[in-house]
Amino acid sequence: MDINQYLDQQRQRVDRFLEQSLPDRLRDPDKLYESMRYSLLAGGKRVRPILTIAAAQALGYDDDAMLPFAASLEFVHTYSLIHDDLPAMDDDDYRRGRLTNHKVYGDGMAILAGDALLTMAFELCSQDGSASGLTAKQQLDIIRELSFGSGHQGMVGGQVMDIQAENQEVDLAHLQKIHSHKTGQLIRAAVRIGGIIGGASSPQLESLTGYAEDIGLAFQIADDVLNMVGTREELGKDAGTDEKRGKQTYPSFFGIDGAKKLGEECIERAINGLQSFDHQADPLRHIATYIVRRRS
Ligand code: IPE
Ligand code: IPE
Ligand code: MG
Ligand code: MG
Repeated sequence: MDINQYLDQQRQRVDRFLEQSLPDRLRDPDKLYESMRYSLLAGGKRVRPILTIAAAQALGYDDDAMLPFAASLEFVHTYSLIHDDLPAMDDDDYRRGRLTNHKVYGDGMAILAGDALLTMAFELCSQDGSASGLTAKQQLDIIRELSFGSGHQGMVGGQVMDIQAENQEVDLAHLQKIHSHKTGQLIRAAVRIGGIIGGASSPQLESLTGYAEDIGLAFQIADDVLNMVGTREELGKDAGTDEKRGKQTYPSFFGIDGAKKLGEECIERAINGLQSFDHQADPLRHIATYIVRRRS
């Protein structure tokens, strides 16, 4: 299959849903919606919602009724980026090819736009799900996955470990723990939510979870490598910032080639873990490779 074509198609599918999910700026409080739309519709890769879709497809489900659930991951992810860029955190000026949210709307509005995106993710997941054919239990399971992946044991927990590790010596086990939380848990939730939507059995959900954990680590390793070797034009955000902020990363431990090799090993494990799935899981297999080979 042509993975680039697949990613383009699914990205457009997600983008269409995101575009119509937020009121335009004529509705009050208009500045809030403007600020939410500014970051949400700035053209991210949409990896997390596409993983939800691809996991559901691996189990034979491909109805548009899953889009609110897939989109909820992008709402949470975008909120996490807005807050991650704030002066009190990474203090970054560029994101997704444009100025960061707080640079345009101010810190207060950026914090609130993030808060509103986060809460709206749960609104999307708790809407009447009858069109999707999901049971109330499945919907509740999805909401639990999203909460867990986003919160104190997930992304937020990882962000806390990440800022606490600045300018500190951390060992490799701790670095992996930071990565698996700040980035890995939301990716894990994305894949598991797709699994729940597709009606995965317990062994299937377990295989999907193993796949997600491997690609989650590889995703952050690739982000750290790109931070060293990429440019602002390619990445849409400033490069070289990890070193400036005294952050230890996989490439600072292993060198760029060593980190890339570890990323490739994660991907090999991830793909091997999908052996019990048929050709419908090919998008998942190709996304794994894309994650380590991407240039942005
Ligand atoms: C960047 O995420 C932040 C990390 C968690 C590594 P992405 O690389 O998915 O960023 P977008 O969504 O494409 O902008
Ligand atoms: C971002 O991690 C993880 C989030 C939860 C947002 P980084 O701080 O390493 O990601 P970039 O490089 O700013 O995108
Ligand atoms: Mg950060
Ligand atoms: Mg950052």
